[in-house]
Amino acid sequence: MKPNVIVYRKFDERVVDFVRETCEVVYFKELNEGNKKEFLEELKTAQGLLGSGLVIDHELLDHAPKLQVVSNASVGYDNFDIPLLKERGIVATNTPGVLNETVADTVLGLMLAAARRIPELDRFVKEGKWSSSLREEKFGTDVHHKVLGIIGMGGVGTAVAKRAHLGFNMPILYHNRSRNEEAEGMYKAVYCTLDDLLAQSDYVCLLAPLNAQTEKMIGKREFALMKKTSIFINAARGKVIDEEALIDVLQRQEIRAAGLDVFSREPVESDNPLLSMDNVVTLPHIGSATPETRLEMAQLAAQNLVAGLSGKIPPNIIHH
Ligand code: DGY
Repeated sequence: MKPNVIVYRKFDERVVDFVRETCEVVYFKELNEGNKKEFLEELKTAQGLLGSGLVIDHELLDHAPKLQVVSNASVGYDNFDIPLLKERGIVATNTPGVLNETVADTVLGLMLAAARRIPELDRFVKEGKWSSSLREEKFGTDVHHKVLGIIGMGGVGTAVAKRAHLGFNMPILYHNRSRNEEAEGMYKAVYCTLDDLLAQSDYVCLLAPLNAQTEKMIGKREFALMKKTSIFINAARGKVIDEEALIDVLQRQEIRAAGLDVFSREPVESDNPLLSMDNVVTLPHIGSATPETRLEMAQLAAQNLVAGLSGKIPPNIIHH
């Protein structure tokens, strides 16, 4: 008998069809209040879950006594309670690797946009305010040859370091749980403490995953260590920083600007002060969002799920 699987996010039909070859699939293109009851009913017999972002905790698992594999179509897995999944013998998987280059492109985009004030000046032109040649108060700042500090030097960090070092001649500092030989050897990245990185970098780029150790790892004390001229980029998760502290340093002009793909609450509330600051470039958590990369992520997530439910070892088990 085929194992029962719930796909709870809209995916390319090819991906869903691939899962259907070996599994009995119940497909929710999205989860909402309207289908919650039906979803909870299906959970009773589900052996696999495929999607992203759904919080998998005690409450959900108590509705899912037969669950064997939970597969995230994302590299981040802060929606999983990993110790609990371990305790219940449920395999958890994610999709590292396939999104590195795309997220790195987004990071460079945020750096350039924040440094050269591209969204702000775009509005200036379109609103018909360009009436004479620009004065220095509208100038941005250089990216090339400036020091880039990368917090979290995994696959995405390495792809950012490659672009920054080879393309923009930026010296790279990094802080990570472990040393990254590729980044050190190929892109001359220098390992340093978090405090040294914050104090010495012109651009601070946050890419560390969200977990109990990293939650709010960048707060008031850390922002205070940054240069007054520095630019802060967050393409990790909003909760890795203390967002109130970021708002505070930006309001006090204690750092120059920020580029944010993520927020502590998503979708971000319309009255969040970050949205009314000209020196903050915002994106709606689209770091990996190109059709090509999202398809690869979905395919990998589906392969992980199918492998786990066929008694094989999925290529991307989360081991923590
Ligand atoms: C990821 O894969 O974790 C990206 O942030 C998309 O959620």
